[in-house]
Amino acid sequence: MKTAIIYASTEGQTRKIAHHAEDFLQGEGHGVTLRNATDAGDLRLSEFDAVILAASVHAGKYQSEIVAYAKDHANALNQVASMFLSVSLGAAGDDATEWSALRCYVDDLKNDTGWTPDKVEHVAGAFKFTEYDFFRYWAMRWMESKRDPSAPAGEDREYTDWDRLDKTLKDWTRARSAAS
Ligand SMILES: Cc1cc2nc3c(=O)[nH]c(=O)nc-3n(C[C@H](O)[C@H](O)[C@H](O)COP(=O)(O)O)c2cc1C
Repeated sequence: MKTAIIYASTEGQTRKIAHHAEDFLQGEGHGVTLRNATDAGDLRLSEFDAVILAASVHAGKYQSEIVAYAKDHANALNQVASMFLSVSLGAAGDDATEWSALRCYVDDLKNDTGWTPDKVEHVAGAFKFTEYDFFRYWAMRWMESKRDPSAPAGEDREYTDWDRLDKTLKDWTRARSAAS
């Protein structure tokens, strides 16, 4: 399957996830084009069998560049098999309030852009203290103290479940291949 992966990332974890998805899908025999959302304007989505958009949550919102991309290309996205990878720290836990909020962020994205992905996958992200400025560092230390109080404070820590992501990609591409 010819697949485009278009992502936005603030501290780098969604970029890592997008590159991992590229490697995994190529290993499965698919052709993959990977682009940052700011550099994807020239892609003709109608030439792809599937499109994956990936972005992360910051204070309840996705990066403006992925929102702009989805809005500008909503018609094309709605005509191709599409998946949204929503990266967040809420997805690393099982707090019902956080999960409810995550679903609202996706609904907001759909409403704002007019794009309705066939599949939404919530992917656990990472603490990247080495990437944060002063304000973010202390805001995230607070989040960390609530989420993972026994973990060493202020250290980068990844929660992404790579095996689960691989299985999601494999199942979805198989289902799409069977359907086409
Ligand atoms: C300033 C800031 C705000 C964040 N807000 C949220 C949030 O509202 N909900 C959530 O689940 N995760 C939140 N996160 C966690 C990020 O989604 C997570 O760190 C993710 O891995 C970031 O991906 P990126 O490195 O691709 O930007 C926040 C992170 C930062 C730094």
